[in-house]
Amino acid sequence: MIAAKKTIAVLPGDGVGPEVTREALKVLDAVAARTGLQFECIQGLVGGAAIDCCGEGLPEETLRICEDSDAIFLGAVGGPRWDDLPLEQRPESALLAIRRMSGCYANLRPIRLHPSLADRVPLKNNLVSQGVDIIIVRELMHGLYYGPRGRRPAQEGGEEAFDTAVYPVAAVEQVARLGFEIASRRRKHLVSMDKSNILETSRLWREVVARVASEYRDVTVRHQLIDSGAMLLMLQPSEFDVILVNNEFGDIISDEVSVLAGSLGMIPSASMGPRAPFFYEPTHGSAPDIAGRGIANPIGAILTAAMMLRYSFALENEARMIEAAVDATLAAGHRTPDIAGPSDTAISTSEMGSLIACAAT
Ligand code: NAD
Ligand code: IPM
Ligand code: MN
Repeated sequence: MIAAKKTIAVLPGDGVGPEVTREALKVLDAVAARTGLQFECIQGLVGGAAIDCCGEGLPEETLRICEDSDAIFLGAVGGPRWDDLPLEQRPESALLAIRRMSGCYANLRPIRLHPSLADRVPLKNNLVSQGVDIIIVRELMHGLYYGPRGRRPAQEGGEEAFDTAVYPVAAVEQVARLGFEIASRRRKHLVSMDKSNILETSRLWREVVARVASEYRDVTVRHQLIDSGAMLLMLQPSEFDVILVNNEFGDIISDEVSVLAGSLGMIPSASMGPRAPFFYEPTHGSAPDIAGRGIANPIGAILTAAMMLRYSFALENEARMIEAAVDATLAAGHRTPDIAGPSDTAISTSEMGSLIACAAT
């Protein structure tokens, strides 16, 4: 029996977004050829590309494509060309709008160190010799990103700016529950990071996480202040399993922890909520410093496609096919410039994508 066709809204976006998206689709094609599965990809404009073409970062047409799809796959948005626009017109605002509209409240960012890349981690090797296998569970729909903000006259004269973080109990509860569920299926250790020594939202975060923890007796929980947590991640990376964290802190530590995998270009992500379509994007941005040169690492995007197969389509075997293909390609020594050592000959984005697609076939 041929499984039903899956529809994917593909939004390549800006900078390296289209470059890495192309390779993720190449690998999906390879999986389709091998398994007989059908993926229908419908491309839409988002971010700067949409602003240039239609005057807005998230055109109606793109929204419609997303709503009609089983999953949404985005490359990256943003770049210097659009940096001077007002906040609400920037490409990043389009991204926040899609995330919010999708109802995806949790963003999963797995960080694994492939053993052959251990020497690409700029920490002393003994720090990662026990391996790195961390998943960041980041709240995605609240906090500083979405609260009231603006400019106003300051009491002391002149202008002031404000951003506001708001976390309802229910929002913390649902992401915490997902974090504990994930931990209970992994090494059963969850570290919740907050700033409860100073922020009211973090005090509430800690209370709610502690309450949810009491429902998951098999998972050990530690509450860690985010500043020292950021340090411990570099000193004892192998001690971490699941990290539960709010939206703004999660953004920052995910780029920090990416260093433990050799490159930000290696890190996928999946965002999920109560209903389809879920939302998929690599953790990195549009990388304007390397865009257009064909040298971006497509592995983050390719592993993002694997997460999409797993979480949106329940295609666990096919997700593993992609992950195994990435592992085999790395084990064979193939490297884009960001993960190449001094004695490696670096390959291009599309060469890396083709090698992984071939290994997945
Ligand atoms: P970035 O993630 O784009 O780049 C940070 C550094 O990592 C750069 O040196 C870049 O070359 C490198 N890098 C990123 N992805 C890589 C890849 N696939 N392969 C090799 N190297 C890679 O972050 P930034 O420079 O701070 O932001 C650039 C733009 O991207 C900004 O406009 C920002 O708002 C946007 N951004 C978008 C997203 C998204 O769309 N999901 C995420 C983060 C940043
Ligand atoms: C990320 C990005 C986004 C975020 C920006 C582009 C809005 O940095 O996905 O990590 O901060 O969530
Ligand atoms: Mn980020």
